[in-house]
Amino acid sequence: MNTDIRVLVVDDDEFNIDLIEVMLTALSGLEDLTILRALNGREALDILEQSSDIDIIRLDLEMPVLNGFDTLQLLKRHERMREIPVIVVTADKSEVLKTLTMGANDFLAKPYDPQELKLRVMNHVRIKKLSDITRDMNDALEREVVKKTAALQKALVLSQEAEYEISLRLGKAAEYRDLETGMHTVRISHLSRELAHLAGMTAEDCEILRYASPLHDVGKIGIPDHILLKPGKLTAQEYEIMRMHAAIGGKILSGAEHFPVIEAGRIIAEQHHERWDGNGYPNRLKGTDIHIYGRIVMIVDVFDALASERPYKKAFSIEETATLMLKDRGVFFDPELLDLFMTNLERFVVIKNSLQDIPGCEHNPFEEVLKSRHIA
Ligand SMILES: [Fe+2]
Ligand SMILES: [Fe+2]
Repeated sequence: MNTDIRVLVVDDDEFNIDLIEVMLTALSGLEDLTILRALNGREALDILEQSSDIDIIRLDLEMPVLNGFDTLQLLKRHERMREIPVIVVTADKSEVLKTLTMGANDFLAKPYDPQELKLRVMNHVRIKKLSDITRDMNDALEREVVKKTAALQKALVLSQEAEYEISLRLGKAAEYRDLETGMHTVRISHLSRELAHLAGMTAEDCEILRYASPLHDVGKIGIPDHILLKPGKLTAQEYEIMRMHAAIGGKILSGAEHFPVIEAGRIIAEQHHERWDGNGYPNRLKGTDIHIYGRIVMIVDVFDALASERPYKKAFSIEETATLMLKDRGVFFDPELLDLFMTNLERFVVIKNSLQDIPGCEHNPFEEVLKSRHIA
């Protein structure tokens, strides 16, 4: 603890200040004592304004310019100065209660005993210094907490970005095993987010869906080449294996529950072929037992597949696409979500049109397979 003691003595009688200085310095244990002098309240406030290291104020009450009461009132209203202990000196005992009520920390009745003066000063200074240490420690702790919180937030953002990045890269890897174009997954990402937004999902959930929906067919990674790339029509058994991509996708992404995007990807991969009427796969989930992520991706995936040109088919017009999908309202699709989709169809068409396949750039390496499969 800092042993320097700085006492501000406020008294209009300089003799009193000299007396106190003598009394305090003459007593042992106060070697590091500094006395600051003020002849009235105004001077005292000026000194306090300039120095923030005063440990205690010994305040006279009867003074010109600014008396002790007014000075005390101003001190106790000041954010910093109110922490400095004030010992009031008075010969009139009736004033003691008034000054204590106003916030004075102690009083000395004139004439006072030097030993009593020293003890009271020391007691208050000790408390003040301890409270200074506590305050400084709290300030340092607060600064450290702010610093650590900022570092933690930065780490969280980085970890979220890493998760987004991993999800995008995994989606890219899946595209190499998908017979769709790369732009299909980009469109699914934006269309899913839009439908989620219209369904009233939180901004955070909409973003999660945006990054997770491109993973819907990630399970095709696990489908053997002789089936995935088989020219011509698949047998019933091969088609069964093809359908396993949903369960495989779920397995690939399982066990990462603490990562919201990967976990959402798992749900979508597993549930994007579940049907509202319970006749979908892999688990024949029904109605709202299918997660809303799965119900959303089911709608936008079918919409994009129908309304896009493929090597084996022309694109259906938006009207034809809407008619076909509405036939399956409550069969394949969640009726409420489909209604929402259809009511806002124009928005989805704008998104789809803004993310068209670029001829030449989006060449699908499996184009021949697709053509032959349709012809067979
Ligand atoms: Fe699929
Ligand atoms: Fe798809």
